[in-house]
Amino acid sequence: MIVALIQARMGSTRFPGKSLVDVAGHPMLWQVIERVRAAATVDKVVVATTDKPSDDPIAALCGDEGIPCFRGSADDVLDRFYQAARAHQADAIVRITGDCPLIDPAVIDKIVSRFRHGDCDYASNVLRYTYPDGLDTEVFSFSALEAAWREASSPAEREHVTPYLRSEKFRRANVESEIPVARGCRWTVDDPEDLEFVRKAYAGLPRQCFGYRDVLDLMRRKPEVAGAQCETISNEGYYCSLYNQAKAGSAAKRPLAKSVEWLERSKRVIPGCAQTFSKGHTQYVQGVAPIFLSRGKGCRVWDVDGNEYIDYVQGLLPNILGYAHEEVNQAVSAQLAEGHSFSLPHPLEVQLAERLTRLIPCAEMVRFGKNGSDATSGAVRAARALTGRDRIACCGYHGWQDWYVGSTARNAGVPVAVRGLTHPFRYNDLSSLNALLDQHPNEFAGLILEPMNFEEPIPGFLEGVKELARKHGALLIFDEICSGFHFGLGGAQELFGVTPDMACFGKAMGNGFPIACVVGRADVMGVFDEIFYSFTFAGEVASMAAAMKVLDILEGSDALARIEANGRTLQDGIKVLAKQAGLQGQLEPIGRPQWSLLKFRNPDGSESQLLKNLFQQEALKRGILLLATHNMSAAHDLVAIQQTLSAYAEVIKTLAGWLGDSNPASHLEGAMAQPVFRVR
Ligand SMILES: Cc1ncc(COP(=O)(O)O)c(C=O)c1O
Repeated sequence: MIVALIQARMGSTRFPGKSLVDVAGHPMLWQVIERVRAAATVDKVVVATTDKPSDDPIAALCGDEGIPCFRGSADDVLDRFYQAARAHQADAIVRITGDCPLIDPAVIDKIVSRFRHGDCDYASNVLRYTYPDGLDTEVFSFSALEAAWREASSPAEREHVTPYLRSEKFRRANVESEIPVARGCRWTVDDPEDLEFVRKAYAGLPRQCFGYRDVLDLMRRKPEVAGAQCETISNEGYYCSLYNQAKAGSAAKRPLAKSVEWLERSKRVIPGCAQTFSKGHTQYVQGVAPIFLSRGKGCRVWDVDGNEYIDYVQGLLPNILGYAHEEVNQAVSAQLAEGHSFSLPHPLEVQLAERLTRLIPCAEMVRFGKNGSDATSGAVRAARALTGRDRIACCGYHGWQDWYVGSTARNAGVPVAVRGLTHPFRYNDLSSLNALLDQHPNEFAGLILEPMNFEEPIPGFLEGVKELARKHGALLIFDEICSGFHFGLGGAQELFGVTPDMACFGKAMGNGFPIACVVGRADVMGVFDEIFYSFTFAGEVASMAAAMKVLDILEGSDALARIEANGRTLQDGIKVLAKQAGLQGQLEPIGRPQWSLLKFRNPDGSESQLLKNLFQQEALKRGILLLATHNMSAAHDLVAIQQTLSAYAEVIKTLAGWLGDSNPASHLEGAMAQPVFRVR
């Protein structure tokens, strides 16, 4: 028997009594009951409320309507659900909340049908939101509910019923809307403003049971209805519970003796003790952070002392599918068995190039490299060769070669003559670029920029850069080393609809195997016949086999969508935790969910290195490895995200307490991280 359990209570803190407010001449809960009753796949509808006297009116409404009402625990809602499901002999449960008066019976039927395929314990439309928030329907087996009821232990899991069921312990399926729905479409009733929207929707639609498509259609036809929408965060209550249950206080340091031993050995033989600045021990709070890692799997790594971390660095972004991905590693092993550094070109080069030209808008031809710096430097040389000019305008970080690093504070060793040829301009500031180009007319060979890192391009910015490049006879190069693949297979150029002359990809291409490329229009790329862009390992094909497999997976699965959805959950959670702690202005995730930055600020808005270091210190001690970004991979599943948010709840609560002290810096347990130089 399939039993729909509608969860309702009068005691909402944000909107007391909301269950019974009037919606189109009836209590809101009545509207929900009617809609759920209209679902053909539901055998029985039961309201699950609390045993508190304040919820007697809900029981009375159920009595009037002839609907069974189950009364149980106010706080342990998971127990209430379990007891209700048992009492009504449910084989499967449809969980609906009483604050969703636009719930759609057809959507309920679709999710129940998906559940009935028999290959999942839990089906819903909330693992990734593609429907408006407020059509939330979760269907799960009684046995899964029973397991959750037995095993889920945290107050947040018990209060919010399904977090445990959404974990990887269960076989889950997400049901997606066929029509794209804008994010921010929020139809739940959490506060009185939400109710206005719902009332307008009911007033604008015919009495008979309308569906969510009709509501969307109404919003299109009558913008004043859509205007009543306000954007808030899904599942805010769950994150609040995480905060409430979190313990504040400094956590214990993890044992790091072996890391320190390796560091001492390294100091004798490796200048800087790392091969990449951002991986060095000076980039983390010293004495607290691990220094050497020994292995990784999925989103997790283990240091040489055996400590486990959820890794939000992911090798500085490459591991888009996570560490030690079996299919990618198999593809590489197969190629290794055939040889991988050949004396002549290999067909895989052609196949991969063909594939990239299909995926990336500006790509008609491709040359490969190993590091992002190969690609950016190749593109810059090509631009110089094509235009016969020397100057380059840049925006963002572009790698270690002279042409770029000469423009930074760490320019030692770069000839002065070279330093003066590269000119940084400000992102989202066309006038800074315009001024630069006017200052040296007809001297710029190319404009290279990250089309987006953590700040969205303001409308017209990327188009404006392209126009300026045209006007001044310079080539436009997008540095997509980071945005490439994380923001979609066509990169940011596809996302924002602006096609450059050339673009550089790297990092995520090979899931950690070294491969990069410069791509571009055929007439531009032709110059690679003339310039010197050539090195021993550019055609190494094991990494190309990795790239082909990465593309197979990204094209053939929902990996990118999951990365975005889980990244959004993480960002939403952090926003709510920061708000709960009263730190929302001081600790804010910015950027897209796939690759976002945590901004740490003083109360006056200036950047706070201290807060950043304290956050990193306390996160590390709780098993979260991060610089300041969240570099999401497909392996960061909901279990990892929930674990991270539980840790962050403690970190943020602890920091909120420390910031109230007279000397918050006294809580630092090691030297602060040393910036290499600032470009973001
Ligand atoms: C935007 C961007 N461009 C270029 C590079 C250089 O890539 P690589 O370090 O692989 O040479 C990086 C590296 O972080 C980068 O973030």
